[in-house]
Parts: sequence; structure tokens; C-alpha cells
Amino acid sequence: MSTDRHEDHHGDVRAPGNLPRDATPPDLRAGAEDADVGVVIVAAGSGSRVGGAELKQFRWVAGKPMLLHSVQAFHSRRDVAMVVCVLPKAFVGDPPPWLFQCDIDRLLLSVGGRERTESVANGLEDLPDEVNVVLIHDAARPFVSDATIDRVIAEARCGRGAIAALPVVDTLKEVDDSGRVVRTLDRATLWRAQTPQAFPRDLIEQAHAKARAERITATDDAALFEQLGLPVVVVRGSERAMKITDEGDFARADALFSVNE
Ligand code: CTP
Ligand code: MG
Repeated sequence: MSTDRHEDHHGDVRAPGNLPRDATPPDLRAGAEDADVGVVIVAAGSGSRVGGAELKQFRWVAGKPMLLHSVQAFHSRRDVAMVVCVLPKAFVGDPPPWLFQCDIDRLLLSVGGRERTESVANGLEDLPDEVNVVLIHDAARPFVSDATIDRVIAEARCGRGAIAALPVVDTLKEVDDSGRVVRTLDRATLWRAQTPQAFPRDLIEQAHAKARAERITATDDAALFEQLGLPVVVVRGSERAMKITDEGDFARADALFSVNE
């Protein structure tokens, strides 16, 4: 496997070319000539809230390993030029074999950082030159829909950041350490941010460069974009795009997957 690896400055590994590619039908194996969307899937977390010996992003959910759902979903698109999977360092040199059940010509592996923001930044560095629009996606959200991807890309092509999100339906309370309610927030203006999030490449690179210089981290990339004063819009996400955060979410995700959207 090591013979046809190509490594660069921070140890990124080009997926080897001699592995099975049976999961992607032949007509979907290549992006279109003018494919210019680059995808960074962050899968370098430790899954501390789930716990257990196996990383949550490698555990099976709805019939296959969690990360593989997203990789295959993005590879099924002709506008995607490259998918960069950001993995914990130990797995970049020794990835799980199922990961190569995809279009390996459009797969790169990068090394994750301590914080999610650093993992995204590492993935951004490895995008090829032809990428104009960047999609950033959490491996912990296995059920990304094509319609949502279409919507965020369309907005990013207009020069804005775009995030999949859902309006908040519960009444929201701000609560202090003692459990006392401080105030009620105006739900009408609040949305829950999901991924994918899409951005024009030059602008998200600037946002991450600033974050790195100022040692800022955030739980999503839109927050870094907003700090530059750049516009971000919401597009309708989906309940199926839930993030798997704790153990109970595995059963919920399996149940959601079996229900039509
Ligand atoms: N992530 C990453 N690098 C990090 C931290 C997180 O690539 N240093 C990724 C995770 O793998 C996940 C996504 O960011 O796909 C969202 O993070 P989260 O759901 O918080 O996952 P973990 O950080 O792995 O879980 P926990 O916070 O419970 O440890
Ligand atoms: Mg985390």
C-alpha cells in the first residue's frame, strides 16, 4: 500500500490506486471535466461523549460505517472534484479498508488537529487547484441529502457562505449555574446550524487564516466567516442530518434512516 502513496508536508496521504472501488458505479467514478467543488469531511474527533473503544465515525449506522455514508454521498455528485477526509493521525497511515469503497481517485486523507477548526484548516490546505467552492461537513452527520448540498452550493456560487440549518421549535431559556432561568430568548430568530456548510474558496481560506493567526476556534466554519464580516445565509437542512453525539443517537439515526424524508 505504501508504494503508491504520495505524502506532503504534514503527512497527507493520497489514497492508493490498487484497492477495490466496487461501491461506486462506473459512470459516477469521475467528476465532470468542470467539477470545481471540494469537500472537507472532518472525521478526526475522539468521540468522547459516545466513548467506547471504536471511534464513533467508524462505527456502523444504517448499514455501513458512519464516515462512508458521507464519502459516498459526495462522490455520487458530478460537481465534486475532490473529497478530503480528515482523520486522526494514527488512521491516516493505516485507514480502515472500507473507506476505499468509493471513488479513490477523488479521495485524499489529511491529518486532524486538536480542535475541529484545526482539522478543517488542514483539510482546506489539501484541496486541489481547480476547487472554487468548498463544502465542509461533519462525519458525525451521516445522512447528508443531495437537495441540501444543491442549496448550499447554489448560495456559495453567489459569493456567500451558506449553512444547512433548521428553525428552533422549542422555547429557549437562558439559565444560570444554579438552574435559575435568566431570560427567554426570541425563538423566531434562532436556527440550529448543521452541515454541510459551503463557501467560496478564497473567502473561507481567509477566514481560517485569520482564525489560525488569532488562535480562534469555533464549533462551525460559518462562525469564522461571520467574524470577517462576510455574509452567511441559512438554507433548509433536515432532521435526518442529525449529528450523532451520544450513544442513544445511534439507535435514533437507524430509526430515522428507515423512515422516508
Ligand atoms: N472533529 C475533527 N477534529 C477534531 C474534533 C472534531 O475532525 N479535533 C470532527 C468530528 O470527527 C465530527 C465533527 O468534527 O465529525 C463534529 O464533532 P463532534 O460531534 O463534537 O465529534 P467529536 O469531537 O469526535 O466528539 P466529542 O466532542 O464527544 O469528543
Ligand atoms: Mg467534539
